[in-house]
Amino acid sequence: MDWAGRKILLGITGSIAAYKATWIIRQLKSKGAEVQVVCSTDALGFVTPLTLATLSERPVYTEFVRSDQGEWVNHVALGLWADLMLIAPCSAHTLAKMAGGLCDNLLMAVYLSARCPVWFAPAMDLDMWKHPATSRNVNELISRPNHRMLGPASGALASGLSGVGRMSEPQEIVDAMEQWWLSTNDQARPPVLDTWRGKKVLITAGPTREAIDDVRYISNHSSGKMGYTLAQAFLEQGAEVMLISGPVSLSPPQGLQSFVAVESALEMHQAVEKYQEQFNVGIFCAAVADFRPVHKKDGKIKKKDGVSPIALVANPDILAEIGRNKRADQFLVGFALETENGLAEAARKKSTKQCDLLVLNHLNDPGAGFGLDTNQVTLLSNMGITELPLAPKIEIARQIIQHITKCYFHS
Ligand code: PMT
Repeated sequence: MDWAGRKILLGITGSIAAYKATWIIRQLKSKGAEVQVVCSTDALGFVTPLTLATLSERPVYTEFVRSDQGEWVNHVALGLWADLMLIAPCSAHTLAKMAGGLCDNLLMAVYLSARCPVWFAPAMDLDMWKHPATSRNVNELISRPNHRMLGPASGALASGLSGVGRMSEPQEIVDAMEQWWLSTNDQARPPVLDTWRGKKVLITAGPTREAIDDVRYISNHSSGKMGYTLAQAFLEQGAEVMLISGPVSLSPPQGLQSFVAVESALEMHQAVEKYQEQFNVGIFCAAVADFRPVHKKDGKIKKKDGVSPIALVANPDILAEIGRNKRADQFLVGFALETENGLAEAARKKSTKQCDLLVLNHLNDPGAGFGLDTNQVTLLSNMGITELPLAPKIEIARQIIQHITKCYFHS
């Protein structure tokens, strides 16, 4: 992709992750983009203006006035100059100021003047991230037109704790930009922001657990990542998202309309039925166990009692049932994880479960399926068969949504 002439305003705030911004500048510059850095003064405690100016090949702006030269930094002109404003890392403090519209430094003045899309990559400690005040600020920001949040990721934090709060990796951020440029260049694609405002999207995610006794269960390797990234990507588009999740170790994205945590297929079935009438789009990404033990034993089956067979009974097929009862205005998306005859199996499931779109992922494709951060899928819909190459799950989620958008609004 040609990045020449792309103008990116990079806002950097006071966070240890500020060092990662240098890598973002390097990447963007090497692709041919123009990068103008605007920092908060706190950011300069973590990374020097000399480094940033050298990498970006432009002066770094922090204050309204460059007192050494008597020059006024025109925040309005900067805000209008950019094709995209990225604030990375975005500290809890800056996030709060953006949500509240405070204008106490140059970065905030530029933010308030920018007419371009604004992306922000939060970076903070996990308790700051989980704080209700931060949740409220994030909800406010992601509900604004043209705003998009990247991350935060989960992992080791500078505090020594571990959890959600790490800034997304620079490569992921640059990849997301590239995908975005590509999609906005393609006139055939529908607009990606704000399209789903006011629409309700139901998503199932993760595995189910079918209890054998009080300590053991039948389950599968689903991590919930695909379903959770779909929820995240629909939130970015302004949709009201209801997420029903089997047991996973992910934090639900901020801004959900509702979140229901379930264990078993029967519980998931019950939760889905509750929302059956409400949704405009239903996405069944969960890896639901097809069978459950007929009887759950109380306590723990003892080894000394020997090996005894476990009788199984079929679980309800939630998607098939919703498909049978769906209204004409509801759009249904099924997933299929296959190990052989992928296309044929996916086509069969699309038809028997009465889906409008079936997303096929193949366990044999490297980088696809359970647990990974990437996926490679094939979409089967009335528009034909579309293969999406291997990409981070969040990008796959966005492309699936673009496909749904085309089918839902334009067919
Ligand atoms: O969670 P990750 O680690 O990110 O992995 C993502 C994923 C591989 C789980 C996901 O991409 C995926 O493929 N999910 C569906 C897996 C699956 O169970 O496929 P299936 O062929 O068994 O089911 C077909 C469809 O029917 C699915 O939409 C499933 O949600 C639904 N189903 C299946 C059985 C059942 N009893 N009820 C259902 O609703």
